[in-house]
Amino acid sequence: MLTPRQLFLRHQAQTSDFPLLLEIERAEGVYMYAPDGRRYLDLISGIGVSNVGHRHPRVVEAIKNQVDKYLHLMVYGELVQAPPAQLAQALHETLPAHLDSVYFTNSGAEAVEGALKLAKRHTGRTGFVSCLNAYHGSTQGALSITGSEGFKNSYRPLLPDVRHIRYNHLEDLALINEHTAAVVIETVQGEAGVRVPEPGYLPALRQRCTEVGALLILDEIQCGFGRTGTFWAFEQFGIAPDILLCAKGMGGGMPIGAFISSQEIMAGFKTNPILGHCTTFGGHPVSCAASLATLHTIQQENLLAGVAEKAARFRQQLVHPAIRDVRGCGLLMAVEFDSFEVLKPIIDHALAHEGILTDWFLFCDNSLRLAPPLIITDAEIDEACAALLRAIDSLH
Ligand SMILES: Cc1ncc(COP(=O)(O)O)c(C=O)c1O
Repeated sequence: MLTPRQLFLRHQAQTSDFPLLLEIERAEGVYMYAPDGRRYLDLISGIGVSNVGHRHPRVVEAIKNQVDKYLHLMVYGELVQAPPAQLAQALHETLPAHLDSVYFTNSGAEAVEGALKLAKRHTGRTGFVSCLNAYHGSTQGALSITGSEGFKNSYRPLLPDVRHIRYNHLEDLALINEHTAAVVIETVQGEAGVRVPEPGYLPALRQRCTEVGALLILDEIQCGFGRTGTFWAFEQFGIAPDILLCAKGMGGGMPIGAFISSQEIMAGFKTNPILGHCTTFGGHPVSCAASLATLHTIQQENLLAGVAEKAARFRQQLVHPAIRDVRGCGLLMAVEFDSFEVLKPIIDHALAHEGILTDWFLFCDNSLRLAPPLIITDAEIDEACAALLRAIDSLH
């Protein structure tokens, strides 16, 4: 009989010639366990997913309760099912009043796709503006607005009318004009290597969008759901979007995403044609039950309160001549080294010898990704930092 590792390599489609190839049997809190019992400290949360930790008991209980009632019943938007309805209300309660209509998807990229359609439908325009080095997903619309030519060139032609601006550059906002249906931007850029908006940048962007009648779509798929220390990252920057995107951490480990807007904007999907956006599984009751439990866990366990201190604890300890910079917003952090050639052996050593799982960024390969579950304790942070410093020292 072939082992799972052999089956993975033989039959599961590969997207690179160097997958991590780490086999995990179970996971709990901030740890993942290999079949031989080896323990790995997860410093990246499955790329921004396990904000409440792996298999949080409240999330597991909500899933089990829902599984005992029903699974999929019907395609999106026909039957009344308590989990999506209650989740939509709970999300609305975390948001400014105008963001009161939630469309559930299965993933981040699907939330992006829905939002792009909605912006075209609402404005009657076709242009989109997004940022260089932004990552918005791998489907064709999301890829079109992704800000790396290298990443998308082989898949052209993509959506026309997409222009890219430099993040944090006020002078580029002039590219947003009366042809722009929407600007899509990560409130804090993730795959660009964690780029935090400079004071005044997002308010100026918001103002420009309002002036020219373009919608502002904030992608909080990676930076939302508590990751930056506020429930939504945009709360820290004095603006609000017309459409908000979320996924990843939203599901507590289950697949779910959403685009959230006003009743008025969302009404575009009801006419010309009716069923303007359809999905079979979007709003799946088990994912919604898990998401509601995740949201309640963040709120009731007061997870946001500890984020800034935990980030500071990482920063205090991650001091080393090889470390060039530590960027971040809450527990979305990037530790910069001179180059990928310096960083990659550190990541490999940390995994193999210290049981520390980390990564680099899609569009920033000289920086180490730090995005642990928000429930990480001080002792676990100390353990992680000591291990990372040992990994750096062993190679310098
Ligand atoms: C900011 C951002 N937007 C969109 C996506 C796409 O989400 P998904 O992988 O769920 O399609 C990601 C995924 O990494 C992301 O980081």
